[in-house]
Amino acid sequence: MDFFDLYRQKTQLSEKLFKRAKAVMPGGISHNVHYFPPYPFFLKEAKGSKIRDVDGNEYIDLWMGHYTHILGHYSEIIVKAIEQQSKEGIHWGIVFEKQVEWAELIQGLVPSAEMVRFCCSGTEATMYAVRLARAFTRKNTILKIAGGWHGANSDLSVGIKMPYEKEESLGLLPELQHYTKTILFNDLPGTLEMIHQNRNNLAGIILEPIVGEGGFIPGTEEYLKMLRSETEKLGALLIFDEVISGFRVGLGGAQGLFNILPDLTTLGKIIGGGMPVGALVGRKEIMEKTSPERKADKWEKILIGGGTFSSHPLTVAAGIAILCYLRDFAEEIYPVLEVKGERVRKGVQEALQREGVETAVTGFGSLFQTHFPFEGGVILNSPHSINQKTDTDKREVEFRIRMLNHGVHVMHGGGSLSMAHSDEDIERIIQAAREVAKEMKG
Ligand SMILES: Cc1ncc(COP(=O)(O)O)c(C=O)c1O
Repeated sequence: MDFFDLYRQKTQLSEKLFKRAKAVMPGGISHNVHYFPPYPFFLKEAKGSKIRDVDGNEYIDLWMGHYTHILGHYSEIIVKAIEQQSKEGIHWGIVFEKQVEWAELIQGLVPSAEMVRFCCSGTEATMYAVRLARAFTRKNTILKIAGGWHGANSDLSVGIKMPYEKEESLGLLPELQHYTKTILFNDLPGTLEMIHQNRNNLAGIILEPIVGEGGFIPGTEEYLKMLRSETEKLGALLIFDEVISGFRVGLGGAQGLFNILPDLTTLGKIIGGGMPVGALVGRKEIMEKTSPERKADKWEKILIGGGTFSSHPLTVAAGIAILCYLRDFAEEIYPVLEVKGERVRKGVQEALQREGVETAVTGFGSLFQTHFPFEGGVILNSPHSINQKTDTDKREVEFRIRMLNHGVHVMHGGGSLSMAHSDEDIERIIQAAREVAKEMKG
């Protein structure tokens, strides 16, 4: 039986639900990444490393709520914190002490976080980061990585999908796009050249120090150091987007690991324990500019911050619970996650290679992706080069459906390991990859 047919046979209730969903929501989804052909399975429940769909199929999950659930789905410490908070109140829109506690936790753990501003999503955080960089420097141009994803805000919806020179979407103002330009990740001479070309109007450079879209590839030491020193020389801001890597690769995120201090950092995902969240953190001198408090006669207005639900009590409770846990058990968590990640990367790569399926498994710490790159091609350290293969998407979908048929849910051919993934889970993931490799070869 064809792998799509097998999937359809196992997910009949999902297929019905998808038809219903499409009649009321464009494409049947609320985030584009939730769609995949022929249709996504619909989830019923999730606990630990496992998810179960409406048809009763169980999968080992590697997506983990967009890489959020570092302890696994439905972690007891987070559930308890949310339950407790909901007894005290759900949504107030008035400041409360726990917000301060949460911000202090981040201030104490993330090296560049002298001050913290919370919002509801990573998209908002990166939007504010760009606005603040432009306001603080009084310059306009932002450089971003070609292929880099920072959420759907208009300023950064440039150069996301190949071919990068084309317009990303109708509805985005060309004038706005004019001031966001792309550079290639880890391309030192090319990036230097772009910095040089834009030196008179450079507000900042935003990048993930471990680039997500390209397969969780870390910036080289010399590349990140060059960005730090060049921005400093020009008075432009270096912005690290650590929405994924924050608290994922270590308590201090990638900046702690690589020992590079950006001016601003955006956070999300893990810091909210699974509740909607984003945060902009950074140097006091810059962050202070966003304060609504009038400073005597010279208040300069930098509008950072609406958000009816910013710093929502349930998010704050979940956020404090997860960050306290990670802080207290960091030594037992991060090395273990790294070992799990390495085992899966190696196991999946070997499984596919053994059958001659051309792939590259890349990743860092507990994160990984499986690429189906150029036939006979080379993977370079850039999302640009990785995305060049035209049938990548087709083969990625095939891998995904086949893995689902073997009980494993991957995203972009991979995902993230959590503390809930057992040795047995890891063995099952690798075994599934072995079976899929045989099928894909045949
Ligand atoms: C690196 C990065 N930045 C920003 C975002 C946007 O975050 P959100 O989806 O919470 O708006 C994402 C989301 O996946 C991300 O991966």
